[in-house]
Amino acid sequence: MGTVLVTGCDSGIGREFATQYADAGYAVVATYRDLANRLDDARMRHRALDVTDFAQFGALAAELAGEPIDILVSNAGIGLDVRKLGDLDFAYVHRMLAVNTVGPLKLVDTFAANLAVGRERRLLIVSSSMGAIGMNLTGGHYGYRASKAGLNAIGRSLALDLFPRGITVVMLHPGWVRTAGGSEDAPITAAESVGAMRDFVRRLGNHQTGGFYTYAGQPLPW
Ligand SMILES: NC(=O)c1ccc[n+]([C@@H]2O[C@H](COP(=O)([O-])OP(=O)(O)OC[C@H]3O[C@@H](n4cnc5c(N)ncnc54)[C@H](OP(=O)(O)O)[C@@H]3O)[C@@H](O)[C@H]2O)c1
Repeated sequence: MGTVLVTGCDSGIGREFATQYADAGYAVVATYRDLANRLDDARMRHRALDVTDFAQFGALAAELAGEPIDILVSNAGIGLDVRKLGDLDFAYVHRMLAVNTVGPLKLVDTFAANLAVGRERRLLIVSSSMGAIGMNLTGGHYGYRASKAGLNAIGRSLALDLFPRGITVVMLHPGWVRTAGGSEDAPITAAESVGAMRDFVRRLGNHQTGGFYTYAGQPLPW
């Protein structure tokens, strides 16, 4: 088995990705916004990685230099902005773009060389159907929608740019998931969502690179 690196393992879907991949026998590098939230799991390496902190990227890149990463999971994200037009929290809008859009680009820019020497060479970008402009029938959530639409644009370019290096890139909507980000009313658990995403990624063909899919592998409109 190879190595998986996951961002945002402090809670929710990221934590579940780390646990399920460790259960499947992968060497997991679990990264956290705050290392105090680390999983109590001796099978994994636990590292600090706030995806807005470029110095932390540098430190982790130095540690992992030359080491293959088979599956890179860009999961860290911050949730919905609920304030309405006329009462927007622009500091939070900027923060969403920093965490949800720029952070994943920095992640891939930092670890593309590690992915390229991996065996599986899969990049999973946890996006959201809220970023699908064609599916937006309810408005609002300016920052979150823009951050995920921008993330999808980045993912598509990454797929094209990394194709010659054999890296397959997918943007995934995890479903509406019962996490801090998703709410207690959500219909599926993080275990179900991550289990389905892992199944999809296992079946993934290189021809599917650059696509935007549900957690079950159904294509989504942009
Ligand atoms: N749950 C859903 O229904 C749903 C739907 C669509 C998309 N998503 C996406 O799924 C991903 C995971 O969300 P979730 O549902 O598992 O919610 P979550 O429990 O809030 O998880 C998000 C994780 O990202 C971490 N994070 C926040 N800022 C970070 C930073 N600057 N650097 C590194 N990590 C950071 C959070 O850590 P702290 O909590 O410690 O800040 C948290 O562990 C997100 O990208 C989200 O947009 C979720």
